Amino acid sequence: MPTQPQVKGLLLAGGYGTRLRPLTFTGNKHMIPIANQPMLFHGLRHLAAGGIREVAIVLGPLHEGIPEAVRNGDEFDLDVTYIHQGEPKGLAHAVLCARDFLGEDPFVMYLGDNLLQEGVRPFIERFHQSPLDAVIGATPVQHPSSYGVIELDGEQIVSIAEKPRNPKSNLALIGVYLFTSKIHPIIADLQPSARGELEITEAIWKLHGAGGRIAVRRVDGWWKDTGRPEDLLEANQRVIYGMPPASFAVRGQVADGARIMGPVSIGPGSTIGPEVQIDGPAVIGSEVRIDGASHIGPGTAVGNRAAIHQASVQRSIVMESAEIQGPFSLVDSIVGRFARIRATQDRGLRLSCVLGDSTQLNF
Ligand code: TTP
Repeated sequence: MPTQPQVKGLLLAGGYGTRLRPLTFTGNKHMIPIANQPMLFHGLRHLAAGGIREVAIVLGPLHEGIPEAVRNGDEFDLDVTYIHQGEPKGLAHAVLCARDFLGEDPFVMYLGDNLLQEGVRPFIERFHQSPLDAVIGATPVQHPSSYGVIELDGEQIVSIAEKPRNPKSNLALIGVYLFTSKIHPIIADLQPSARGELEITEAIWKLHGAGGRIAVRRVDGWWKDTGRPEDLLEANQRVIYGMPPASFAVRGQVADGARIMGPVSIGPGSTIGPEVQIDGPAVIGSEVRIDGASHIGPGTAVGNRAAIHQASVQRSIVMESAEIQGPFSLVDSIVGRFARIRATQDRGLRLSCVLGDSTQLNF
């Protein structure tokens, strides 16, 4: 029986991340935590779960923190190398930069700021079912003009367009693609688009035009492009709600009287005071302090070494070493690393905010 070709992984973590820049003064947007794990780690785990071993991470101008955290990939059971793209000149440009690493092998390209519930395994399985030059994923979205849009007639591709003003369908291309080496000469011939990028959608369209065999998968489950703060919050909730029960464990100290309801993870060294209530699913990191009459609601993630006193925190991301001092309610909010929110009096306030790293809010 012929052996199946090894599939490599290309995880994109370049770009400027302009829309999330205010949140990440001290790091790269791909290191923003989703369910207390840097966004990029979710992509790495998906690639590993798909049976991929060799992965290159594409780094952009703002790559601080990524190689330091991922290192050689051992922790993920991956062999990770790094490729410096520099200026983000488009998704196809990232592939061009990875040309030597990819060689003639098929590869999965995973956009580091995307989260796909089903992971990459179904793409690889589809690829192994019949001879193909690409497997791409599509899903219906509300505002297709913000995405690459694909028009289908049954299984047949009718058109593909990048962020079209007048979309021909509501099917967006998601940020996971599988290609064979047939894509390389096409990318090598691309010219920058009107927005100055080498567009992967154009490469796919040309591959189709050249008779390439492209399977379009309607993805199962949810997909999230986490470009904006509200997307991060939604992704955080979806990941926390989807965590298997066995992954929740209480390893910190919970005082008598504290109420821990439903699946809740509490990391080592954390202390939960006697008047605290935590409603799962929720994830609390290590060395976190929660005290006073605090209430942590479902869909919330609290990072390592954060402190919450006398506050209600609902459906929020509280990053590591942040401090929240009530009394007030924080809902649908993102609090950056080392940020501090402090209420000086009880005004019964309900606050929803996005607070960047190391910022302070006193009221
Ligand atoms: P985008 O969302 O297109 O761009 P961005 O991350 O720079 O964000 P913004 O629009 O807010 O400025 O990028 C999608 C993903 O692909 C993201 O994980 C970054 C990555 N990327 C690269 O690695 N190289 C590139 O040249 C581009 C354009 C994106």
